[in-house]
Amino acid sequence: MRTKLLVTTILFGAMAAVLPARAAGTLNLVCAADVKWCELMEREFEASHDIDVNMVRMSSGEAYARLRAEARNPKTDVWWAGTGDPHLQAADDNLTLEYKSPMLDQLQPWAQRQAEVSGYKTVGVYSGALGWGYNTQILEKKGLAAPACWKDLTDAKYKGEIQIANPNSSGTAYTALATLVQLMGEDEAFAYQKALNANVTQYTKSGSAPVKAAARGETGIGIVFMHDAVAMTKQGFPVKTVAPCEGTGFEVGSMSIVKGAKNLENAKVFYDWALSPEVQSKAAEADSFQLPSNKGATVPPEAPRLDDIKLIDYDFAKYGNAETRKALLERWDREIGAAAN
Ligand code: F6P
Repeated sequence: MRTKLLVTTILFGAMAAVLPARAAGTLNLVCAADVKWCELMEREFEASHDIDVNMVRMSSGEAYARLRAEARNPKTDVWWAGTGDPHLQAADDNLTLEYKSPMLDQLQPWAQRQAEVSGYKTVGVYSGALGWGYNTQILEKKGLAAPACWKDLTDAKYKGEIQIANPNSSGTAYTALATLVQLMGEDEAFAYQKALNANVTQYTKSGSAPVKAAARGETGIGIVFMHDAVAMTKQGFPVKTVAPCEGTGFEVGSMSIVKGAKNLENAKVFYDWALSPEVQSKAAEADSFQLPSNKGATVPPEAPRLDDIKLIDYDFAKYGNAETRKALLERWDREIGAAAN
């Protein structure tokens, strides 16, 4: 018996010597930023911690739907990035956990406000304004002037030249929907979207896909967050970015810990790490040009500055409210989505 124990101990010892060091645990991460940034976050976190990350990338509305579907048996620990409205809806629905990070007081006022309105169930990680990007070569070839205002986009001359995402899956498109409602009033915003629908060729799943399509020359104009259009220009595509003349909405990209997270301590470690200036300063390495929430983080020179853009006073509490978001999306499905099919 003793010999057997000795042999087993020696065997395990030898195995430990040849196997790579085991991670102290795992972290299940849903990431709703651009895939390049998601991969950078996964890589950097694993490199600096003894924790294995299982990361899945999805759009904001899909991430919210996943948390809802998993509510009884959560498989996700942290939902990082994606527009703030569905994070607020998740907070409203009691799907996420209150957590006051020690990093909170290092954050911009808009990021702290996001935490306050949610009862500290979410927090701002970046911000950026909505607009569009257009392919200069396509518009020039077709003799089309660049649209400067929301109202320009419904002009029949842009028929077949516009893409925007579906607001059910995409936080970008929901921000556009909520922005139009705040700019015009609900009924007028839906009349506007019906007129816009005549020019739209595709409602994509992901929010940034329309400007990626414009960069490739598949469409003239993509309605997206301005930083996603800037990323295309940075990558060498003939894309110009527009801030709509009437004013526009913006996002507070957010982060939440899932209620019932199986790896709660690791989730908190990731949360605090993701709010640090060093980590946020790395976004530009992944061609992500949002404005960071940590006051000490480097703002990429390419990032569109909110101060330079005519912004609406976006009501995050109202448009992140579960009932409001659900009602607007149902109306969009009935009046716009159904007509688009
Ligand atoms: O591509 C980055 C980004 O625009 C983020 O700024 C934003 O939070 C997210 O994508 C929204 O993506 P989606 O519209 O697919 O939910």
